[in-house]
Amino acid sequence: MEEPRVRCPELLKKVTSAAEAAELIKDGMTVGTSGFTPAGYPKAVPLALAERAKKERIKINLWTGASVGDELDGALARAGIINKRLPYQTNESIRDAINRREVQYIDIHLSQVAQQARYGFLGHLDVAIVEAVAITPEGYLIPSTSVGNTPTFVELAEKVIVEINTSQPLELEGMHDIYIPADPPKRKPIPLTRVDERIGTPYILCEPDKIAAIVFTDIPDNVRPLAPVDAISKQMAENLIEFFKREIKAGRLPDKLLPLQSGVGSVANAVLAGLAQSDFSDLEFYSEVIQDSVFDLIDAGKMRFVSGTSITASEAGLKRFYENIKSYRQKIILRPQEISNNPEVIRRLGIIAMNTAIEVDIYGNVNSTHIMGTRMMNGIGGSGDFSRSAYLSIFATPSTAKNGAISCIVPMVSHVDHTEHEVHVIVTEWGVADLRNKCPVERAQEIINNCAHPDYRPLLKEYLDKALKRGGHTPHCLEEALSWHIRFGAHGSMKPKN
Ligand code: COA
Repeated sequence: MEEPRVRCPELLKKVTSAAEAAELIKDGMTVGTSGFTPAGYPKAVPLALAERAKKERIKINLWTGASVGDELDGALARAGIINKRLPYQTNESIRDAINRREVQYIDIHLSQVAQQARYGFLGHLDVAIVEAVAITPEGYLIPSTSVGNTPTFVELAEKVIVEINTSQPLELEGMHDIYIPADPPKRKPIPLTRVDERIGTPYILCEPDKIAAIVFTDIPDNVRPLAPVDAISKQMAENLIEFFKREIKAGRLPDKLLPLQSGVGSVANAVLAGLAQSDFSDLEFYSEVIQDSVFDLIDAGKMRFVSGTSITASEAGLKRFYENIKSYRQKIILRPQEISNNPEVIRRLGIIAMNTAIEVDIYGNVNSTHIMGTRMMNGIGGSGDFSRSAYLSIFATPSTAKNGAISCIVPMVSHVDHTEHEVHVIVTEWGVADLRNKCPVERAQEIINNCAHPDYRPLLKEYLDKALKRGGHTPHCLEEALSWHIRFGAHGSMKPKN
């Protein structure tokens, strides 16, 4: 017989329905939930809350780890419940509500959320809703497929609602390593010097008295399908792997590389898939999301160890993870995002950070979040946590978007998330721009020649030549700097009309 999920007899009397648990959430409250890039987020209680909102007015502020599934962000956004939301989302319903400014969205570096909450910067946390696979005899919580900000939310919340999800296997127990740093002035160095080290506990500490309700559910993680690796992503991956080989030859990277971080999305997945085909071995991964391609690398015997904060697999990837969980758990640790994305640890371990850009400018500034400078896409996520502290900070993007109507290399980005100071390398399907040890004009030449699409190269050169005549350390023609975006807005292409 399966071990009981609630092992603290006292707490059995707290078991209730999702509808009754949702009654604990009142209008005006702030709710913090588990969940990170649709993994390990609560499902039944948010759905019950959305149902309740049909009968009464209710508005809440919602904090999560990162993006969560449609049962939470989608259902609550469509019910008009969310007032303020942080720190990251990818759901279409909430994205639209954010861009209509019906939801106030606070886009925060993912490593900083827990500490900002503890410092009191974000206000009071009323309720935490946490998905768990089990509750220990002491009342401690065993998280499921993600850790995210849950340990701090449980610490700060007045009340905790636990969703025991029976679709999540009990074998997840033991994969987590929970550590909350002390706050300044008492903070000590985080004692992580290797990717595979454990520094905390396998459970989240929780005072049993705080647990106000326990709800059983079996709704699975609403994971997203992964786009197949297309020719452009494959070429970017090949360009990057060639770059790594040159770095090894030059003595700037060891043969096994350094621990890798890889962002979200299809490009990131393609880069890792490319590594699985390469002759690299004994790799390590210190990242936030663990995507399907990481399982490929483990299965191919090329990945020694993986540290992250969530299992962000496709449906097929999740099935494969569950089926082989006993062997994967020897090689995977899930940590709070405050640790998986911690700048101190990232700098110490010497991470190779690989993230995706929406657009890049000729000087190396990167926009990861805003379409045409105004419309929020997802959020900065962990890209800033990693890029600023990385040993090597790499941004990949296809050279064009929307069938060539948009150049992803532009004279000036329409929004800045990562500045020229933390971007070392740009990769497109055309090549690699190495920006290290280069002044702005050298960087512009490198990016235009190596990364821009040939259709846009002459236009970018023309812009740079004109700007150079005006002088300055970082030359620009300010009246034209955003004219490409304006042109796209006016007639659907960044290319001049004639
Ligand atoms: N201008 C306008 N639209 C653009 C564009 C540009 N320069 N570049 C891409 N787009 C559009 C695409 O056409 C696509 O539109 P669609 O959804 O209508 O098809 C959309 O933006 C997404 O582009 P895609 O190429 O599919 O990107 P992706 O899935 O690889 O995601 C980011 C790219 C940047 C949106 C994503 O990586 C992200 O949110 N990053 C920020 C957070 C982060 O880096 N987290 C990881 C840290 S560990």
